[in-house]
Amino acid sequence: MSRDASLDALARARGLRFGSALGRCGFGDPAARALVARECGLVVHENELKWRAVRPRPDRFDFAAADTMLDWAEAQGLAVRGHTLLWHTPRWLPDWLHEPAHAPRSLAAAEALLAEHIGTVCRRYGRRIASWDVVNESVDPDTGAMRDNVFTPHLGNLGQVELAFRLAHEHAPHAQLVYNDTMGWGRGSARHRAGVLAMLEALVQRGTPVHALGLQSHLGTDAEGRWLRRSGEHEREWRWFLEAVTALGLELLITELDVDDRHLPADEATRDAAVADIAREYLDVTLSFRALRCVMAWGLGDAQSWMQSWWPRDDGLPKRSCPYDGTGRAKPLRAAIAAALSAAPSRFDAADALA
Ligand code: XIL
Repeated sequence: MSRDASLDALARARGLRFGSALGRCGFGDPAARALVARECGLVVHENELKWRAVRPRPDRFDFAAADTMLDWAEAQGLAVRGHTLLWHTPRWLPDWLHEPAHAPRSLAAAEALLAEHIGTVCRRYGRRIASWDVVNESVDPDTGAMRDNVFTPHLGNLGQVELAFRLAHEHAPHAQLVYNDTMGWGRGSARHRAGVLAMLEALVQRGTPVHALGLQSHLGTDAEGRWLRRSGEHEREWRWFLEAVTALGLELLITELDVDDRHLPADEATRDAAVADIAREYLDVTLSFRALRCVMAWGLGDAQSWMQSWWPRDDGLPKRSCPYDGTGRAKPLRAAIAAALSAAPSRFDAADALA
């Protein structure tokens, strides 16, 4: 593999894929867009397919922004993942859904609303989207319990997730259907992992068409700037969790990789090295699971990253969470991802060859 092989080429050599989220800022910047086309085999809309974007009013769908990006991605030969058909967290559902006039008031109304939304979005894109984050973040990270939202009184929490998957399967029968969440490998995520696993077990037991777990993989440090390294209890716990998930017959995806550097030193070289190290430790463990099929970054360039506005640094310096800096130069994080992809066990094993 040549030294300037793209991350997707490195991934493909192991039977994996590499991609990135693309948001309005990145899409609006020709250099950032070109970088995505160069490095990726897959893209996902950062916000443009969420309810809040697609469904500005109860009686109106707006696909303009999503369509523009999708047309561009296809013209570049990129595959597109869909994100997301139901973001369970109340704050991310559209405001109108909480207005008394529009909140569902019966089981039939709740079912009709979900069916209309998921049916309309899935049918519009058909085979153009081969993998959907059907449901996002149903489990409360602090308690491990499922979250409540406007659909809960009528459909329940597990019930709405199950319905969302059934509808996605009905309207996009070709697609890989993914449950996506933030649980990580830190000790603080133990309840979250247990809650997600319990929910997936219940879904599988009910015969729900769920095919994979999306590991968002927003990595970082604790408040003292320390991060997790391979070995030790958390690695064992993480392996145990991923084994339990794959034992259910589910595949894995890394869907939103980036590194929150807010507690790391200001010095750029030190910070970049730490960011790369944080990702490498995590990727080596996680990529050792052959059921893991792709790695997606949540943005390729620091300038466009959501990390700039979410959780800013105390010293006000720009964050350096992505594989490329604000001027489009590759950083140590890019090298860490490349090395982790190259070191991953090949997915082209004998079983795959026979399949
Ligand atoms: C984030 C976007 O990056 C922001 O621009 C937006 O303001 C909020 O959502 N988990 C997810 C993503 O599943 O959809 C989130 O994206 C980041 C956390």
